[in-house]
Amino acid sequence: MTTSSIVRPDGAHLKEPIIPSKHGETQSFSIARRNPLALDSKVAASSIDNLNQLLADTITLRDLYKKHHWQASGPMFYVFHLLFDKHFEEQSKLTDLLAERVQTLGGVCFAMAPDVAEATIIPRAPNGREDTATQIARLLQAHEIILLEARTMARDAASAGDLGSNDIIVSNVIRTSELQVWFLAEHVQ
Ligand SMILES: [Fe+2]
Repeated sequence: MTTSSIVRPDGAHLKEPIIPSKHGETQSFSIARRNPLALDSKVAASSIDNLNQLLADTITLRDLYKKHHWQASGPMFYVFHLLFDKHFEEQSKLTDLLAERVQTLGGVCFAMAPDVAEATIIPRAPNGREDTATQIARLLQAHEIILLEARTMARDAASAGDLGSNDIIVSNVIRTSELQVWFLAEHVQ
């Protein structure tokens, strides 16, 4: 039997990453680059802020769908287990569109859970399991928060000339959310 010759380090790197250069961070979160998009830098900065807020709330809604997919219960378990996961997938696509729009505009997108938790305006869900009616009510509230801010952000982006951001907010975020609200709300009519 051969003995491994790999030398195990002391584990200090598990507390702090080994960063190869002093300048590991190439762009501060609060500073936008200027990309040649024929877009005023103030307009781009304002869109970056709005899109990051929308991203934090969309990530939260996405995760709320997965929580409810996992923790579904009751006589309609299978229907909601599947429906919540379908909506999770659709929200997941939106997070990618929003994050990449932030990067396109020269900003830095939210990515990690603690930053998202700090920024979102969607109320925190408990870690306990909730019944279907409560799950739906919680999801409808989150959708309405997003729809309300998204409509304002879409109008602001359009009037400032950022039509690309307006298009993503209207064609993707608002329309997906409205459709998902319909599917949820039909269960509580
Ligand atoms: Fe699953």
